[in-house]
Amino acid sequence: MPKSNDRKAQDVIKRKEEGIQVVLGQRVQARESTTLLECVHLLHNALPELNMDEIDIATTFLGHKLRAPIVVDSMTGGAPMAEKVNGTLALVAEEMGFAMGVGSQRAGLLSRAMAKTYAVARKNAPSIFLFANIGGAQLAKGFSLDDAKKLIEMIRADALAIHLNPLQEVIQPEGEPIFKGVLDKIHDFSKNLGVPIIVKEVGAGIGTEAAVKLELAGVKAINVSGSGGTSWAAVEKFRAEKRAMEGKASLGELFWDWGIPTAAALIGVKRTVSLPVIASGGLRNGLEVAKCLSLGADACGMASPMLKHAAQGSAVLTTFAKKVLDELRTTMFITGSKNLEALRSVKKVVTPPLTYWQNT
Ligand SMILES: Cc1cc2nc3c(=O)[nH]c(=O)nc-3n(C[C@H](O)[C@H](O)[C@H](O)COP(=O)(O)O)c2cc1C
Repeated sequence: MPKSNDRKAQDVIKRKEEGIQVVLGQRVQARESTTLLECVHLLHNALPELNMDEIDIATTFLGHKLRAPIVVDSMTGGAPMAEKVNGTLALVAEEMGFAMGVGSQRAGLLSRAMAKTYAVARKNAPSIFLFANIGGAQLAKGFSLDDAKKLIEMIRADALAIHLNPLQEVIQPEGEPIFKGVLDKIHDFSKNLGVPIIVKEVGAGIGTEAAVKLELAGVKAINVSGSGGTSWAAVEKFRAEKRAMEGKASLGELFWDWGIPTAAALIGVKRTVSLPVIASGGLRNGLEVAKCLSLGADACGMASPMLKHAAQGSAVLTTFAKKVLDELRTTMFITGSKNLEALRSVKKVVTPPLTYWQNT
């Protein structure tokens, strides 16, 4: 491996490790903003006319069967501790029939040793819908179709997720706020990569105008990843403070709660495009998952809760995953929803301030 690649790999490894540590050790959730899912009230049904054990939560996403509509959202890889985390996440995803994404695979391209911190996901989860990951800024900087194919091979991925994180790139100490040309590159990959492209945010949400452009560019699914959960402005603020980068730290503080709340992003994107949509960003329990599914989400992603439980081992993560599914099934039972299709047609009351976002 050329020396410069070695150094680049070390930088990315350090960054990935620090990101995990900050998420695990600091309070980096939204402070003043929320997902706005508290504005969605599913109508209670006192006469469900079904038994709890009849409830079916299976679904199909991009042609793949999921035993539950849950996605372990893109997080990690590229650092020694990430291998353990990815291994645990994948074991539980396989056990539960969830989909899963790995984190940005840049480090895996720079170093063979790091490639195995991602590959462990496929090793431990041979049958799940697993997606690769790379950042939009990398695409703008010249990441090629051949590079993208290597990411797919690295984990035998079923799809590629491209994350759009303009806010994070500005605040991140090593950030590269370079986004000119990203859409053309997405278009090119959509036509030529041979697996579907999912485009996601990382906690600031995808709006309707971006969604329309992405659909026209050939993207096959959108993960809205809205605000109300993990704030990457906050994570990068802590990293900037450690390096005495006051300007960046101050930006992180100011934009801590920035973004389109998850419920607003989901409603907007579902209304505007006809692609499958993953709801993520701040989902913390099965009731919130049920609300998103009822608003039209095709699956629901969780990132930091999965990481926090995975860090305590696979048994703890399995217990958490089962709890989320119990909460989802309970919501379905008391709304009289035998399956996810029925959950979608449950009557709901949507209150302000979520309603203020309806024309965005
Ligand atoms: C530790 C950690 C690392 C992450 N790394 C990535 C990444 O490499 N690529 C990506 O697309 N999203 C990444 N994300 C963003 C998540 O996929 C998700 O969009 C975001 O955290 C919001 O979900 P949450 O509120 O459930 O955490 C990361 C999230 C966490 C918590």
